[in-house]
Amino acid sequence: MSIFFHKICLKKRIDVAKFASNVITEQLSVDENSVLGLATGSTPEQTYRELVNKHIADQNSWSQVRTVNLDEYYGLDRNNPQSYHHYMQVHLFNHVDIPEYNTLFPNGTTSDPAAEARNYEKKIVAWGGIDLWLVGIGSNGHIAFNEPGSSRNCRTRLVRLSDKTISDNSRLFEKKADVPTQALTAGIATIMEARKILLIATGEKKSAAINAALNNPIGPNCPASFLRQHPNCTFVVDEAAAGLCRNNFR
Ligand code: PGA
Repeated sequence: MSIFFHKICLKKRIDVAKFASNVITEQLSVDENSVLGLATGSTPEQTYRELVNKHIADQNSWSQVRTVNLDEYYGLDRNNPQSYHHYMQVHLFNHVDIPEYNTLFPNGTTSDPAAEARNYEKKIVAWGGIDLWLVGIGSNGHIAFNEPGSSRNCRTRLVRLSDKTISDNSRLFEKKADVPTQALTAGIATIMEARKILLIATGEKKSAAINAALNNPIGPNCPASFLRQHPNCTFVVDEAAAGLCRNNFR
């Protein structure tokens, strides 16, 4: 199997957002029935803004697009302003013509996380798999909520968030104690089955994780390192996130 692993460093955050939104728009123009994997967090916010601007300018339709989100906090109702479901409404879904039944999330309020995880995976298979998955990276190297220690073969499941992730994400909550301690997340094997993966990272806080993902041995200590084994993955970072390993991007 050939591996196309691309590494692109752009000057600023906005350049990363423009690049990512171009890749997504290109995917939709090639196939308006695309299944997109999506991420939440601060990093993709600008990418979604760019996508919405393109949607308004070009009038491209999202009516046939299906989307799958990586993860959801466990215990948060979809209408909770801190839920990833709510995030997606605010940043993307309220602004494009995607029907709600074409959007998939793990349900954070399920009483049976194992059954919910199975249903989420089944739906991805029924939709024909993910064409392009946009992912971020945690400062500890996680992808989705696959924290360090996650195996290459793990699938969608309920996980406990690491202390690092809880403190990183506490900036978005009133206080640290409000951050959920568990989440339902797509597994590494689930993500690796996407036909294409685009990882975006911006800011100096991500530079250690990017360096580990690119240069440490591939393994559970840095879950993002597994992406080096994907047949078609691109890392797009800004100069600050490339900081510790600029040479990887030449
Ligand atoms: P962030 O999160 O974009 O808010 O930094 C990224 C992630 O944890 O995957």
